[in-house]
Amino acid sequence: MGRRQVTIADLYRMKRENQKITVLTAYDFPGALMVEEAGADVVLVGDSLGMVCLGYSSTVPVTMDQMIDHCAAVRRGLTTALLIGDMPFMSYQVSVSQAVANAGRFIKEAGCDMVKLEGGAEMVPVVRAMVDAGIAVCAHIGLTPQSVSKLGGYKVQGKDLAGAQKLVDDAKALAGAGADLIVFECIPSALAAAITRATPMVSIGIGAGPDCDGQVLVYHDVLGLARRNPPKMAKQYVNLWPLITEALGNYCQDVRSGAFPAAEHGFAIDQAVVDQLKI
Ligand code: KIV
Repeated sequence: MGRRQVTIADLYRMKRENQKITVLTAYDFPGALMVEEAGADVVLVGDSLGMVCLGYSSTVPVTMDQMIDHCAAVRRGLTTALLIGDMPFMSYQVSVSQAVANAGRFIKEAGCDMVKLEGGAEMVPVVRAMVDAGIAVCAHIGLTPQSVSKLGGYKVQGKDLAGAQKLVDDAKALAGAGADLIVFECIPSALAAAITRATPMVSIGIGAGPDCDGQVLVYHDVLGLARRNPPKMAKQYVNLWPLITEALGNYCQDVRSGAFPAAEHGFAIDQAVVDQLKI
């Protein structure tokens, strides 16, 4: 029997039953097919799109239209996994009504099941309005890459008492506003464990230790599809970069040497037809 569509209720049940939730990012149709075939419960089209696919040096320049196009492509590749679309910088910070309208585009135009946004207690009015509009929300606290300038770099968050307490308070406020999921990025493992126990939300960690309800990694980090080394919090399961460049290099060499295309890659025609051509 095939797998059925994963729902938010399934994720709450998995939390209750201590069954770890698997989340991977994907950005296009073949990536979605592969991630789902691999068995991921949830697929996130992260705004990491900007860095791993579009060549930007941060997630800040990513636009709504780029996110919608990539989410829609991923949607076409999924049948069972729950799909989360990541709201890009400045698509939800300007006003509550603009935030709800943009979140609605992820659901209506791209077929997402849920939207993700970065930020703590200051995002409560936005989260509440989205939830009131019938849109499921995944929060994201800790290292929030859209605020990289304000944070002073890509650093672990919540290491001192004030910082840790703020993350606890943020998580409680976001749960109160109706967020169902929360991503913890780069926060100490014991803090992530404590918040996971203290809030009803389903927690998904990246650089947040083993005691979150689930884990998320970026597709390109898992597969070795970036020139840079994967960040400390990621695990590379295969290094595809040299395999791919070698295969592409072999193709270039074969074209130059005449080894490709061979007869079997071409299409035949009756010689009599060729003989009658007026050339
Ligand atoms: O943009 C992204 O891929 C993310 C994950 C790393 C959580 O936000």
